[in-house]
Order: sequence, then C-alpha cells, then structure tokens
Amino acid sequence: MSKIPSPSDISILVIDDEVVTVRRVVQVLKKEGYQVTGSIDAAEAMDEVAQKSPDVIIMDVHLQDADGVELMQRVHGLAPDIAVILITGYASIEHAVLATKKGAFHYLAKPFKVQELRRLVQEALFMKYDVAGNFSEKMLKEASFDEIIGTSPVMQDVFTLISKIAPVDCHVVIQGESGTGKELVARALHKESNRSKSPFVSFNCGAFAEELVANELFGHEQGAFTGAVTSKLGLLETGNGGTVFLDEVAEMPLSMQVKLLRVIQESNFMRVGGLSSLPLDVRFISATNRNMEKMIASGEFRQDLFFRLKVVLIKLPPLRDRVEDIPLLCAHFAKKIADRFGRVVPTISEDFIKPLYDYGFPGNVRELEHVVEHAIALSDKDVLGVTNLPVELLTGGHRADAEKDIKTSLKKLEKNHIFEIYRSTGFNQSETARVLGISRTTLWRRLKEFDSLDS
Ligand SMILES: Nc1ncnc2c1ncn2[C@@H]1O[C@H](COP(=O)(O)OP(=O)(O)OP(=O)(O)O)[C@@H](O)[C@H]1O
Ligand SMILES: [Mg+2]
Repeated sequence: MSKIPSPSDISILVIDDEVVTVRRVVQVLKKEGYQVTGSIDAAEAMDEVAQKSPDVIIMDVHLQDADGVELMQRVHGLAPDIAVILITGYASIEHAVLATKKGAFHYLAKPFKVQELRRLVQEALFMKYDVAGNFSEKMLKEASFDEIIGTSPVMQDVFTLISKIAPVDCHVVIQGESGTGKELVARALHKESNRSKSPFVSFNCGAFAEELVANELFGHEQGAFTGAVTSKLGLLETGNGGTVFLDEVAEMPLSMQVKLLRVIQESNFMRVGGLSSLPLDVRFISATNRNMEKMIASGEFRQDLFFRLKVVLIKLPPLRDRVEDIPLLCAHFAKKIADRFGRVVPTISEDFIKPLYDYGFPGNVRELEHVVEHAIALSDKDVLGVTNLPVELLTGGHRADAEKDIKTSLKKLEKNHIFEIYRSTGFNQSETARVLGISRTTLWRRLKEFDSLDS
C-alpha cells in the first residue's frame, strides 16, 4: 500500500481540443500545487503518457483527432493505473457513463465548477493510492476552516459564508441535523470575530425547567426568591462583550422567548429580583435541528424573535448529502484519535471508506467520528480495513429506522430506474421521456440533478 505523494510530486495531463478548457483546467490544478501539462493534440499527448505516465489524465470524450474512450483504452494499455477523468458536454453524458464501465474513473459534465474538478482529482488520487490516512497536511489545511473539515462544494460555501459574516456583528442561526457540526461552526464564527478575546458562553435552551431558564440566563439578586442567599451571575452577564451560543434554541419556553426578544430589542436586561437594567452587548448565535418555519406556523416559536436572531442563516447539510467529505474527515479523526490514544496514526484503506458512502449516517459527522474511534480502539494494526467497521454499519446501510435515509434511497431508486430506461432506449431522451411519462425538460433536469447524487 502506498501513500499519496505531496501535490508537487503528482503529475496530471489535460487533453482537450478546446484551448480554453485546457487552459482553465491547467490553471486550477496548478494552483493546487500539482505538476500539470496541457495538450490539444491526442498523438502528442500519447507520447507524453508513454514517457511520463502521469497520475491522472483529464480528457475530453470527443477529441478532434481521436475518440476519448479509445484513447483512454490505449492509455490503460500502457499504464492501467492512470486515473482517467473524462470531460463531457451534456449531450455525451451517456457516452461518458458507459466509459466509466470501461475504466474511466469518473466524468465531469460541462459546465463544471472548480470545486467539482478539485474534488474529482482528489478522489481519483485517493482511489489510485488506495489510502485515506495520508492526506498531506496541506490538503487537510486547505479543506478546513479552523476545526471544520469539508472538501464538498456545500461545505466550501459554508466556509466562505463564515469568513464573510464572522467579523460582521450580526446574530446568526445555524440549522442542521444532530452531529452536523453546528457548535463547531458557532465557535469558528466567534473565533474569527472581533469578539474573539471576549467569552463564548453556551446555553442549552432545552436543558432547564421553564422557571429556571430566566435564572440561568439573567442571574438573580440576593433574596430574589427563597433560597437565593447570594446573588448569581447569569450567562448573559458572563458572556457580556462576547458571544452567547443558544443551543437547541427551538426548545426555549415561550415565556422566555418574549423576555429574550425584549432583551435583544433594548440591549439591556435585568437580573431576577433586580431593580435596574444592565446594559448588554452580546452576539447571539443560535443552533437548531428543528424546522423553525413549521414551529412558527404552529405557534411554538415566536416569529418576531426568530427574525431577530436569524439575521443570517447557515444551513449545514447532513453528511449523506456530502459523502465526498468522508475520506478527509476519516483522515482527520484518525489523526486526532490516534494522537489522543498515543498510537501511530493508521492508514485508512479504501475498503474501510467505501461502505461508509452508502451508510446514510443518521448521526452525521459525530457518528463517523465514533466509527473511526471504535476502529482505532479495537485494532492493533497500522491499516484500517473493512473488518474494523461495526457489523451494524455493514448490514444496516438501509436501516428501516433511519427515516431520513429514505429520501436519499428513493432518489437513488428513481435514478436507477430512469437510467435503466434511458439505457434501454439507447440513450434516446425523447423516447425515455415518453416511456416515463414526463417532459423532456423534466428528464433533462433529473439527469442533471442525478449527476450530483453519489451512488
Ligand atoms: N465538518 C467537521 N469537521 C470536523 N469535525 C466535525 C465536523 N462536523 C462535526 N464534527 C465533529 O462532530 C462532533 C459533533 O459536532 P457538533 O457538536 O458541532 O454537532 P452539532 O450539530 O452541534 O450536534 P447536536 O445537534 O447533536 O448538538 C464534534 O466532535 C465535532 O468536532
Ligand atoms: Mg450541538
């Protein structure tokens, strides 16, 4: 088993008869630190392959002087381990899909985003070198924001949003399923803000009985109620000048929601039993895994408070919708956990990673972290493989209880069904649309959407 070399030792060849495409792809990948050459001529490119045997080739399916698939087969005749990524226009997607059956690593449909290109190259290298445990420090750094890891375009967008709004002193709501990293994002926002030297205090809005919430948040004066023998600082006062993280904000009792609204509107608060208002200067970052719109509609959460808190909304997607983050997250957790256990950082093989793509992860990143921890705790080898995965994970890819997986599974079923018919009609779109009883535009939209669905 080999390790992924550093980017400067990785060579990539780009072949396309469109000079603009070659230039763009070369430029993007050079920025990543790879050695990249471009060619617009198939024969010249084959000479290059014979001499240099690049790690990855990115090429057009239809070249002027050659058929991309045939060229790929010639390449594989020379060096079977070169990962080939085909660039295709939408019209030739079926051609590219078939090519993946003939050995192409994947295809990239035009127009593609820079992140997609980077991700595919990273995945191709991952497959080629059969490791996940050895992403270079640079790779990890580039794919992370503070402690948050993510190569997927959605997470990269989240990073951009965090850096944009962190220094702006606005209240933020973070929405996402359990274990998607809401607290991590809240801490990153604080760390990157102008309040970073002041406290970050966390308050779980669901953890206290209704009558105690005000006491916890606002504190109380001595003698405010029986048993209040001394005064007590509330969380707002402790966090004054800094950031207050309202975790599980949806669980905040309605009576408290009114009080909090007033506090935000007036920028002051009163301790329980207090007689005078104290000035308050905090940034609220709230987190929730609930559907707030529904809660507002049913009267469980005040709309006016939600609007105050949600100047900016950050949505964190579930892990099953960004499975491309899995290899790097595994590498990150392997390092973190092995360091904690005082063990050698294990290499993670592809057969450890592969089943994870289909699992669904109802517990999201937190669950993935536990999977890696479990594997490292029980393994005495330097390499983690499929045998180190919990049995439930291998058999429970489509757990009946993971209601959330159903949507994804249905999408996959739908995808398979449409592709089956698409294939059986010899990739005739009009005929496929007719058989399915949908319009050609709908079919086109579905096919495009499926491109982004990993399966
Ligand atoms: N993108 C990520 N990169 C690295 N670690 C992550 C990422 N997302 C989550 N984690 C890790 O997963 C665990 C759960 O994250 P966190 O507590 O932020 O989730 P959460 O959304 O607040 O969950 P809950 O709703 O259950 O409170 C933490 O150990 C965190 O470090
Ligand atoms: Mg949390």
